[in-house]
Amino acid sequence: MSIIERAADKLKSNADAEQKIPAIKNIHKDIIQDSKRKIQKEASDIERITEKFKNTIADSPKIQPIEPQGVDNAVKINREYIDKPISITEGRTVGKKVSVDTHLPQPHIDIDLDRLHKLGIVTPQHGKTQIAEQFRIIKRPLLTNAFSKNSGIKNGNLIMITSSLAGEGKSFCSTNLAMSIAMEMDNRVLLVDADVARPSIPKMLDFSPDRKGLLDIILDQRLNVSDILTKTSVDKLTLIAAGTRHPHATELLASQSMADILMELAQRYSDRIVIFDSPPLLLTSEARVLASQMGQIVLVVEAERTTQQTVKEALRQIESCDVINLIYNKARTSAAAGYYGYYYSS
Ligand SMILES: Nc1ncnc2c1ncn2[C@@H]1O[C@H](COP(=O)(O)OP(=O)(O)OP(=O)(O)O)[C@@H](O)[C@H]1O
Ligand SMILES: [Mg+2]
Repeated sequence: MSIIERAADKLKSNADAEQKIPAIKNIHKDIIQDSKRKIQKEASDIERITEKFKNTIADSPKIQPIEPQGVDNAVKINREYIDKPISITEGRTVGKKVSVDTHLPQPHIDIDLDRLHKLGIVTPQHGKTQIAEQFRIIKRPLLTNAFSKNSGIKNGNLIMITSSLAGEGKSFCSTNLAMSIAMEMDNRVLLVDADVARPSIPKMLDFSPDRKGLLDIILDQRLNVSDILTKTSVDKLTLIAAGTRHPHATELLASQSMADILMELAQRYSDRIVIFDSPPLLLTSEARVLASQMGQIVLVVEAERTTQQTVKEALRQIESCDVINLIYNKARTSAAAGYYGYYYSS
């Protein structure tokens, strides 16, 4: 019996036990009925989730982390890129080629652009920096794949940013890409914090993590995508936060509800690019499940750290997606220079 099933049984037997205590019921009738309603709702939520996840969990073995094996074995993605700041294989394809009116809107977020600029993120007012130029190159093929009628890519507007391991620069690249696209005349962008166990977009954009988001909409069927959208002071940039923490976040991300939400994002918001800042592929199972539903994937590879074997293993995890692009991140421009992100002029 799974943990979820045991929890459902326990909640049910708690509910039964309560029915057998008439004395308490008489004294605190209102309170008890209220708790009972909550318990029954939780039990039925858990039953519903258990039912939905039955197959997904069975199909998702835990992936063991693979440690990098040193610089000597590091993945060789065009040495020439080492001489460029965030070296990027330009658009390289590795693979084959419901609303409730009663909910209050999420509070608007004011983004401090000077602060973002200091973190190395592209902003509208800081002009043509080198980082802005690099992300202009990165976004071009992604936009073409997403909106070109001839591309033949299903759900091309859903773009997942992932990496093999933690700390390779997923959130840095997601935010940069989102800002870069939002600065375009014609394009709107939705940045989704899909790293639900360790959300980093609130830290990056400096807002409180306590807001409704992805996990809330998966759990509460009365919520609609529009109920969890957060507008920002950057006109064309909208966010979806990770949402209220949940002990079964991983399973929720792999649920059928999540698949339905992705479908809604792909179809109802087909005029926008939707960027998913995701967990690392080799340390979690949810990134792999998400990957299977994305139109395009950007795999961030940290220079001088991530080994060729590690990248190969990560690519194997996402082979279900037809369009995979690589970003070779944190490459040093020269022995004296720092990361590209710190190297631009304003
Ligand atoms: N090209 C870059 N130039 C400068 N700093 C960078 C660059 N890429 C990433 N960083 C910095 O490296 C750190 C790790 O990056 P980030 O948080 O984006 O990684 P992550 O892959 O999202 O990590 P996690 O797996 O923990 O979510 C951050 O402090 C980020 O600002
Ligand atoms: Mg991150």
